[in-house]
Amino acid sequence: MAFAFPKGFLWGTATAAHQVEGGNTASDLWLMEWMKDSIFTEPSADACDQYHRYDSDIALLKGLGFGLYRFSIEWARIEPEEGFFSKAALDHYRRVLASCHAQGVIPMVTFHHFTAPLWFSKDGGWEDKKSVDRFARYCEKAAAALGDLIPYACTINEANIPQMITTMRELSGRAPRPGGRRERALAEAARLCGGEPGRFAPYLSGDGNKATPNLIAAHRKGYGAIKAKMDAQVGVTLSLTDYQAVHGGEKTRDRVHHTINGKFLETLKGDDFIGVQTYSRALIGDGRVMPAPNDAELTQMRYEFYPEALEACIRFAAKESGCPAIVTENGIGTEDDTRRMEYTRRALNGVINCLKDGIDLRGYTHWSMLDNYEWLEGYRPKFGLIEVDRPTQARKPKPSAYWLGEIAKRNALE
Ligand code: BGC
Repeated sequence: MAFAFPKGFLWGTATAAHQVEGGNTASDLWLMEWMKDSIFTEPSADACDQYHRYDSDIALLKGLGFGLYRFSIEWARIEPEEGFFSKAALDHYRRVLASCHAQGVIPMVTFHHFTAPLWFSKDGGWEDKKSVDRFARYCEKAAAALGDLIPYACTINEANIPQMITTMRELSGRAPRPGGRRERALAEAARLCGGEPGRFAPYLSGDGNKATPNLIAAHRKGYGAIKAKMDAQVGVTLSLTDYQAVHGGEKTRDRVHHTINGKFLETLKGDDFIGVQTYSRALIGDGRVMPAPNDAELTQMRYEFYPEALEACIRFAAKESGCPAIVTENGIGTEDDTRRMEYTRRALNGVINCLKDGIDLRGYTHWSMLDNYEWLEGYRPKFGLIEVDRPTQARKPKPSAYWLGEIAKRNALE
Protein backbone atom coordinates (compact mmCIF):
# COMPACT_ATOMS: atom_id res chain seq x y z
CA MET A 1 0.00 0.00 0.00
CA ALA A 2 1.29 3.44 -0.85
CA PHE A 3 1.12 6.28 1.63
CA ALA A 4 0.46 9.67 0.05
CA PHE A 5 2.14 12.54 1.87
CA PRO A 6 0.16 15.78 2.31
CA LYS A 7 0.10 18.11 -0.67
CA GLY A 8 3.00 20.55 -0.48
CA PHE A 9 5.05 18.31 1.84
CA LEU A 10 8.66 19.51 1.49
CA TRP A 11 11.32 17.04 0.33
CA GLY A 12 14.84 18.28 0.61
CA THR A 13 18.49 17.67 1.28
CA ALA A 14 20.77 19.76 3.48
CA THR A 15 24.34 21.02 3.64
CA ALA A 16 26.25 23.70 5.55
CA ALA A 17 28.57 26.31 4.04
CA HIS A 18 31.79 25.27 5.77
CA GLN A 19 31.18 21.60 4.97
CA VAL A 20 30.74 22.05 1.21
CA GLU A 21 31.86 25.48 -0.03
CA GLY A 22 35.63 25.29 0.52
CA GLY A 23 38.08 28.06 1.36
CA ASN A 24 36.27 29.48 4.40
CA THR A 25 39.44 31.29 5.39
CA ALA A 26 38.01 34.01 7.66
CA SER A 27 36.32 31.49 9.95
CA ASP A 28 37.34 30.32 13.41
CA LEU A 29 37.64 26.68 12.36
CA TRP A 30 39.94 27.37 9.43
CA LEU A 31 42.57 28.49 11.91
CA MET A 32 42.01 25.47 14.15
CA GLU A 33 42.10 23.03 11.23
CA TRP A 34 45.46 24.21 9.91
CA MET A 35 47.43 24.75 13.11
CA LYS A 36 50.08 22.35 14.35
CA ASP A 37 48.69 19.47 16.45
CA SER A 38 45.18 20.27 15.26
CA ILE A 39 42.31 18.39 16.90
CA PHE A 40 40.75 18.10 13.42
CA THR A 41 41.59 14.92 11.49
CA GLU A 42 42.21 17.00 8.35
CA PRO A 43 41.40 20.52 7.10
CA SER A 44 38.23 21.32 5.14
CA ALA A 45 40.41 22.88 2.38
CA ASP A 46 38.41 23.10 -0.89
CA ALA A 47 35.59 20.94 0.53
CA CYS A 48 33.20 20.17 -2.36
CA ASP A 49 33.86 23.54 -4.00
CA GLN A 50 30.18 24.35 -3.88
CA TYR A 51 31.09 28.02 -3.70
CA HIS A 52 31.64 27.74 -7.45
CA ARG A 53 29.54 24.68 -8.31
CA TYR A 54 26.23 25.70 -6.72
CA ASP A 55 24.38 26.04 -10.01
CA SER A 56 25.09 22.51 -11.24
CA ASP A 57 24.56 21.11 -7.72
CA ILE A 58 21.10 22.66 -7.54
CA ALA A 59 20.32 21.32 -11.03
CA LEU A 60 21.41 17.86 -9.89
CA LEU A 61 19.10 18.01 -6.88
CA LYS A 62 16.19 19.14 -8.98
CA GLY A 63 16.84 16.39 -11.52
CA LEU A 64 16.79 13.80 -8.76
CA GLY A 65 13.36 14.99 -7.63
CA PHE A 66 14.03 17.15 -4.58
CA GLY A 67 12.08 20.38 -4.22
CA LEU A 68 13.94 22.00 -1.32
CA TYR A 69 17.58 22.76 -0.64
CA ARG A 70 18.64 23.67 2.90
CA PHE A 71 22.04 25.36 2.97
CA SER A 72 23.74 27.95 5.13
CA ILE A 73 25.10 31.37 4.37
CA GLU A 74 28.51 31.88 5.93
CA TRP A 75 28.78 34.61 8.54
CA ALA A 76 32.59 34.57 8.25
CA ARG A 77 32.35 35.51 4.56
CA ILE A 78 29.59 38.07 5.02
CA GLU A 79 31.20 39.83 8.02
CA PRO A 80 34.87 38.85 7.86
CA GLU A 81 35.86 41.82 10.07
CA GLU A 82 33.55 43.11 12.77
CA GLY A 83 31.16 45.67 11.28
CA PHE A 84 32.32 45.17 7.66
CA PHE A 85 29.58 43.50 5.62
CA SER A 86 30.89 42.24 2.31
CA LYS A 87 28.64 43.19 -0.59
CA ALA A 88 30.53 40.71 -2.75
CA ALA A 89 29.70 37.84 -0.39
CA LEU A 90 26.06 38.89 -0.13
CA ASP A 91 25.87 39.16 -3.93
CA HIS A 92 27.25 35.65 -4.17
CA TYR A 93 24.43 34.32 -1.97
CA ARG A 94 21.90 36.30 -4.04
CA ARG A 95 23.16 34.36 -7.06
CA VAL A 96 22.79 31.04 -5.20
CA LEU A 97 19.25 31.94 -4.18
CA ALA A 98 18.40 33.12 -7.69
CA SER A 99 19.69 29.81 -9.05
CA CYS A 100 17.34 27.92 -6.69
CA HIS A 101 14.36 29.99 -7.83
CA ALA A 102 15.26 29.72 -11.52
CA GLN A 103 15.46 25.92 -11.23
CA GLY A 104 12.30 25.51 -9.17
CA VAL A 105 13.99 24.55 -5.89
CA ILE A 106 12.80 26.16 -2.64
CA PRO A 107 15.74 27.51 -0.63
CA MET A 108 15.85 27.13 3.15
CA VAL A 109 18.65 29.27 4.54
CA THR A 110 20.46 28.72 7.83
CA PHE A 111 22.10 31.89 9.14
CA HIS A 112 24.55 30.17 11.49
CA HIS A 113 25.75 26.61 11.06
CA PHE A 114 28.60 26.04 13.55
CA THR A 115 31.30 28.26 12.02
CA ALA A 116 31.67 31.94 12.90
CA PRO A 117 34.04 34.73 11.90
CA LEU A 118 37.42 34.40 13.59
CA TRP A 119 37.00 37.83 15.27
CA PHE A 120 33.79 36.59 16.92
CA SER A 121 35.21 33.40 18.45
CA LYS A 122 38.44 35.17 19.38
CA ASP A 123 36.38 37.54 21.53
CA GLY A 124 34.48 34.97 23.57
CA GLY A 125 32.15 33.59 20.87
CA TRP A 126 28.74 32.63 22.24
CA GLU A 127 30.04 32.65 25.81
CA ASP A 128 30.09 36.45 25.70
CA LYS A 129 26.83 38.38 26.06
CA LYS A 130 27.82 40.60 23.14
CA SER A 131 27.15 37.59 20.89
CA VAL A 132 23.41 38.32 21.06
CA ASP A 133 23.64 41.79 19.48
CA ARG A 134 26.41 40.72 17.13
CA PHE A 135 24.31 37.88 15.76
CA ALA A 136 21.16 40.04 15.50
CA ARG A 137 23.08 42.73 13.57
CA TYR A 138 24.38 40.12 11.12
CA CYS A 139 20.86 38.67 10.70
CA GLU A 140 19.47 42.12 10.02
CA LYS A 141 22.10 42.93 7.35
CA ALA A 142 21.85 39.54 5.65
CA ALA A 143 18.04 39.56 5.71
CA ALA A 144 17.97 43.09 4.27
CA ALA A 145 20.22 42.02 1.39
CA LEU A 146 18.75 38.57 0.68
CA GLY A 147 15.32 38.46 2.29
CA ASP A 148 13.23 38.91 -0.84
CA LEU A 149 14.64 35.59 -2.09
CA ILE A 150 14.31 33.55 1.13
CA PRO A 151 11.04 31.72 1.88
CA TYR A 152 12.38 29.61 4.80
CA ALA A 153 15.06 30.59 7.29
CA CYS A 154 16.69 28.88 10.27
CA THR A 155 18.43 31.21 12.70
CA ILE A 156 20.91 28.86 14.40
CA ASN A 157 21.68 25.27 13.50
CA GLU A 158 21.30 23.01 16.52
CA ALA A 159 21.21 25.88 18.98
CA ASN A 160 21.24 23.33 21.81
CA ILE A 161 24.32 21.40 20.70
CA PRO A 162 26.90 23.23 22.86
CA GLN A 163 24.71 22.36 25.85
CA MET A 164 24.27 18.79 24.64
CA ILE A 165 28.01 18.27 24.24
CA THR A 166 28.73 19.73 27.68
CA THR A 167 25.98 17.82 29.49
CA MET A 168 26.65 14.46 27.83
CA ARG A 169 30.38 14.79 28.50
CA GLU A 170 29.68 15.45 32.17
CA LEU A 171 27.31 12.49 32.39
CA SER A 172 29.66 10.07 30.71
CA GLY A 173 32.64 11.22 32.77
CA ARG A 174 34.37 12.68 29.70
CA ALA A 175 34.43 16.35 30.73
CA PRO A 176 37.46 18.06 29.11
CA ARG A 177 40.51 17.87 31.34
CA PRO A 178 42.16 21.15 32.36
CA GLY A 179 45.35 21.28 30.31
CA GLY A 180 44.04 18.51 28.04
CA ARG A 181 44.30 18.40 24.25
CA ARG A 182 41.20 20.50 23.62
CA GLU A 183 42.21 23.20 26.07
CA ARG A 184 45.73 23.32 24.64
CA ALA A 185 44.32 23.66 21.10
CA LEU A 186 42.07 26.56 22.14
CA ALA A 187 44.96 28.30 23.91
CA GLU A 188 47.17 27.89 20.85
CA ALA A 189 44.42 29.23 18.55
CA ALA A 190 44.02 32.27 20.84
CA ARG A 191 47.77 32.86 20.68
CA LEU A 192 47.89 32.53 16.89
CA CYS A 193 45.15 35.11 16.34
CA GLY A 194 46.46 37.48 18.97
CA GLY A 195 43.54 36.88 21.34
CA GLU A 196 43.47 36.69 25.10
CA PRO A 197 44.15 33.23 26.51
CA GLY A 198 40.95 31.56 27.66
CA ARG A 199 38.62 33.63 25.45
CA PHE A 200 38.79 31.73 22.16
CA ALA A 201 35.48 29.84 22.08
CA PRO A 202 34.26 28.26 18.83
CA TYR A 203 30.71 26.90 18.84
CA LEU A 204 31.40 23.19 19.25
CA SER A 205 34.33 23.53 21.66
CA GLY A 206 32.93 26.16 23.98
CA ASP A 207 31.23 25.78 27.35
CA GLY A 208 27.56 24.95 26.76
CA ASN A 209 26.53 26.14 30.23
CA LYS A 210 27.87 29.62 29.48
CA ALA A 211 26.75 29.78 25.85
CA THR A 212 23.16 28.55 26.18
CA PRO A 213 21.47 31.66 27.68
CA ASN A 214 23.10 33.76 24.94
CA LEU A 215 22.04 31.32 22.22
CA ILE A 216 18.44 31.41 23.43
CA ALA A 217 18.50 35.23 23.44
CA ALA A 218 20.28 35.32 20.07
CA HIS A 219 17.63 33.13 18.46
CA ARG A 220 14.89 35.42 19.76
CA LYS A 221 16.63 38.61 18.67
CA GLY A 222 17.77 37.12 15.34
CA TYR A 223 14.25 35.85 14.70
CA GLY A 224 12.87 39.37 15.22
CA ALA A 225 15.56 40.94 13.04
CA ILE A 226 14.90 38.50 10.19
CA LYS A 227 11.12 38.79 10.43
CA ALA A 228 11.37 42.57 10.33
CA LYS A 229 13.16 42.45 6.96
CA MET A 230 11.48 39.60 5.16
CA ASP A 231 8.32 37.66 4.69
CA ALA A 232 9.59 34.16 5.47
CA GLN A 233 8.87 31.18 7.67
CA VAL A 234 11.52 31.35 10.40
CA GLY A 235 12.57 28.83 13.04
CA VAL A 236 15.51 27.39 14.94
CA THR A 237 16.79 23.84 14.57
CA LEU A 238 17.63 21.58 17.51
CA SER A 239 19.79 18.49 17.78
CA LEU A 240 17.33 15.97 19.17
CA THR A 241 18.35 12.55 20.39
CA ASP A 242 15.81 9.98 21.52
CA TYR A 243 16.82 9.71 25.19
CA GLN A 244 15.57 6.41 26.59
CA ALA A 245 15.67 5.59 30.30
CA VAL A 246 17.07 2.20 31.30
CA HIS A 247 17.88 0.64 34.69
CA GLY A 248 16.11 3.32 36.74
CA GLY A 249 17.37 6.24 34.65
CA GLU A 250 14.00 8.05 34.44
CA LYS A 251 14.99 10.97 36.66
CA THR A 252 18.31 11.44 34.92
CA ARG A 253 16.60 11.24 31.52
CA ASP A 254 14.13 13.95 32.53
CA ARG A 255 16.96 16.14 33.78
CA VAL A 256 18.90 15.60 30.54
CA HIS A 257 15.80 16.49 28.52
CA HIS A 258 15.21 19.65 30.49
CA THR A 259 18.82 20.84 30.40
CA ILE A 260 19.47 20.10 26.75
CA ASN A 261 16.07 20.65 25.12
CA GLY A 262 13.49 21.98 27.56
CA LYS A 263 15.16 25.35 28.06
CA PHE A 264 14.89 26.02 24.32
CA LEU A 265 11.55 24.44 23.62
CA GLU A 266 9.74 26.53 26.18
CA THR A 267 10.89 29.74 24.47
CA LEU A 268 9.72 28.83 20.96
CA LYS A 269 5.95 29.30 21.17
CA GLY A 270 4.76 31.30 18.17
CA ASP A 271 7.77 30.49 15.95
CA ASP A 272 6.83 29.51 12.41
CA PHE A 273 8.40 26.06 12.78
CA ILE A 274 10.85 23.98 14.75
CA GLY A 275 13.61 22.14 12.87
CA VAL A 276 14.04 18.56 14.08
CA GLN A 277 17.51 17.05 13.59
CA THR A 278 17.85 13.45 14.69
CA TYR A 279 20.39 10.72 14.10
CA SER A 280 20.01 8.16 16.89
CA ARG A 281 19.03 7.37 20.48
CA ALA A 282 20.98 7.40 23.75
CA LEU A 283 20.35 5.11 26.70
CA ILE A 284 20.31 6.94 30.02
CA GLY A 285 20.87 5.04 33.25
CA ASP A 286 20.75 6.37 36.81
CA GLY A 287 23.19 9.29 36.70
CA ARG A 288 25.01 8.22 33.56
CA VAL A 289 24.92 7.54 29.85
CA MET A 290 24.95 3.84 29.03
CA PRO A 291 26.74 2.28 26.05
CA ALA A 292 24.68 1.01 23.10
CA PRO A 293 23.58 -2.64 23.44
CA ASN A 294 26.36 -5.16 22.66
CA ASP A 295 24.70 -6.40 19.50
CA ALA A 296 23.89 -2.90 18.19
CA GLU A 297 25.00 -1.95 14.68
CA LEU A 298 27.11 1.23 14.87
CA THR A 299 27.36 3.85 12.13
CA GLN A 300 30.61 5.51 11.05
CA MET A 301 29.99 8.12 13.77
CA ARG A 302 29.83 5.30 16.34
CA TYR A 303 26.14 6.06 16.99
CA GLU A 304 23.70 3.20 17.19
CA PHE A 305 21.84 2.47 13.93
CA TYR A 306 18.42 3.44 15.25
CA PRO A 307 16.20 5.20 12.69
CA GLU A 308 13.12 4.91 14.93
CA ALA A 309 14.58 7.81 16.95
CA LEU A 310 13.17 10.25 14.41
CA GLU A 311 9.53 9.48 15.17
CA ALA A 312 10.08 9.89 18.92
CA CYS A 313 11.86 13.21 18.42
CA ILE A 314 9.26 14.66 16.05
CA ARG A 315 6.52 13.81 18.55
CA PHE A 316 8.52 15.30 21.41
CA ALA A 317 9.46 18.52 19.59
CA ALA A 318 5.99 19.19 18.20
CA LYS A 319 4.37 18.66 21.60
CA GLU A 320 6.85 20.61 23.70
CA SER A 321 7.31 23.56 21.34
CA GLY A 322 3.73 23.88 20.12
CA CYS A 323 5.14 24.73 16.68
CA PRO A 324 4.73 23.05 13.30
CA ALA A 325 7.74 20.78 12.71
CA ILE A 326 10.04 20.24 9.75
CA VAL A 327 12.71 17.53 9.74
CA THR A 328 15.68 19.70 8.83
CA GLU A 329 18.27 16.90 9.18
CA ASN A 330 18.20 13.12 9.37
CA GLY A 331 20.69 10.70 7.91
CA ILE A 332 23.52 8.25 8.47
CA GLY A 333 27.29 8.12 8.05
CA THR A 334 27.98 4.86 6.21
CA GLU A 335 30.00 3.45 3.32
CA ASP A 336 27.16 1.02 2.66
CA ASP A 337 24.43 2.75 0.69
CA THR A 338 21.98 -0.13 1.24
CA ARG A 339 22.14 0.69 4.97
CA ARG A 340 21.38 4.36 4.12
CA MET A 341 18.24 3.29 2.29
CA GLU A 342 17.18 0.95 5.09
CA TYR A 343 17.79 3.69 7.68
CA THR A 344 15.85 6.27 5.69
CA ARG A 345 12.98 3.90 4.89
CA ARG A 346 12.51 3.16 8.60
CA ALA A 347 12.86 6.83 9.53
CA LEU A 348 10.18 7.70 6.94
CA ASN A 349 7.86 5.11 8.46
CA GLY A 350 8.13 7.17 11.65
CA VAL A 351 7.33 10.33 9.68
CA ILE A 352 4.23 8.60 8.30
CA ASN A 353 3.10 7.54 11.79
CA CYS A 354 3.36 11.15 12.95
CA LEU A 355 1.36 12.42 9.97
CA LYS A 356 -1.29 9.75 10.50
CA ASP A 357 -1.65 10.97 14.08
CA GLY A 358 -2.31 14.49 12.85
CA ILE A 359 1.04 16.05 13.87
CA ASP A 360 1.71 19.23 11.90
CA LEU A 361 4.87 18.05 10.14
CA ARG A 362 5.70 19.91 6.97
CA GLY A 363 8.74 18.28 5.42
CA TYR A 364 11.67 15.89 5.46
CA THR A 365 15.22 17.05 4.69
CA HIS A 366 17.96 14.45 4.36
CA TRP A 367 21.46 15.05 5.68
CA SER A 368 23.30 15.27 3.47
CA MET A 369 23.22 16.14 -0.18
CA LEU A 370 26.94 15.44 -0.68
CA ASP A 371 29.70 13.46 0.97
CA ASN A 372 31.16 16.44 2.78
CA TYR A 373 33.42 17.69 5.57
CA GLU A 374 32.36 16.07 8.83
CA TRP A 375 34.05 18.52 11.25
CA LEU A 376 36.56 16.83 13.59
CA GLU A 377 36.22 13.59 11.63
CA GLY A 378 37.26 15.10 8.30
CA TYR A 379 36.08 13.45 5.08
CA ARG A 380 35.94 9.84 6.36
CA PRO A 381 32.21 9.61 7.31
CA LYS A 382 29.99 9.41 4.25
CA PHE A 383 26.62 11.08 4.84
CA GLY A 384 25.93 11.99 1.21
CA LEU A 385 23.23 10.86 -1.15
CA ILE A 386 25.75 11.95 -3.76
CA GLU A 387 29.37 10.80 -3.83
CA VAL A 388 32.06 13.41 -4.46
CA ASP A 389 35.42 12.55 -5.98
CA ARG A 390 37.29 15.41 -4.33
CA PRO A 391 40.37 15.50 -6.64
CA THR A 392 38.10 16.09 -9.66
CA GLN A 393 35.01 17.32 -7.75
CA ALA A 394 32.91 14.97 -9.90
CA ARG A 395 29.48 14.19 -8.41
CA LYS A 396 27.91 10.72 -8.65
CA PRO A 397 24.46 10.12 -7.18
CA LYS A 398 24.25 6.91 -5.13
CA PRO A 399 21.30 4.49 -5.48
CA SER A 400 19.83 6.11 -2.32
CA ALA A 401 19.68 9.48 -4.10
CA TYR A 402 17.59 8.04 -6.96
CA TRP A 403 15.44 6.08 -4.52
CA LEU A 404 14.68 9.02 -2.20
CA GLY A 405 14.33 11.41 -5.16
CA GLU A 406 11.66 9.14 -6.62
CA ILE A 407 9.72 9.19 -3.32
CA ALA A 408 10.01 12.98 -3.33
CA LYS A 409 8.74 13.21 -6.92
CA ARG A 410 5.75 10.96 -6.24
CA ASN A 411 5.19 12.43 -2.77
CA ALA A 412 4.36 8.88 -1.78
CA LEU A 413 6.03 5.86 -0.22
CA GLU A 414 5.16 2.30 -1.23
C1 BGC B 1 25.13 18.84 11.95
C2 BGC B 1 25.86 18.58 10.66
C3 BGC B 1 26.66 17.29 10.75
C4 BGC B 1 25.67 16.16 10.99
C5 BGC B 1 26.27 14.77 11.00
C6 BGC B 1 24.51 17.61 12.56
O1 BGC B 1 24.67 17.66 13.94
O2 BGC B 1 24.19 19.86 11.82
O3 BGC B 1 26.69 19.69 10.39
O4 BGC B 1 27.44 17.06 9.63
O5 BGC B 1 25.06 16.37 12.24
O6 BGC B 1 27.12 14.54 12.06
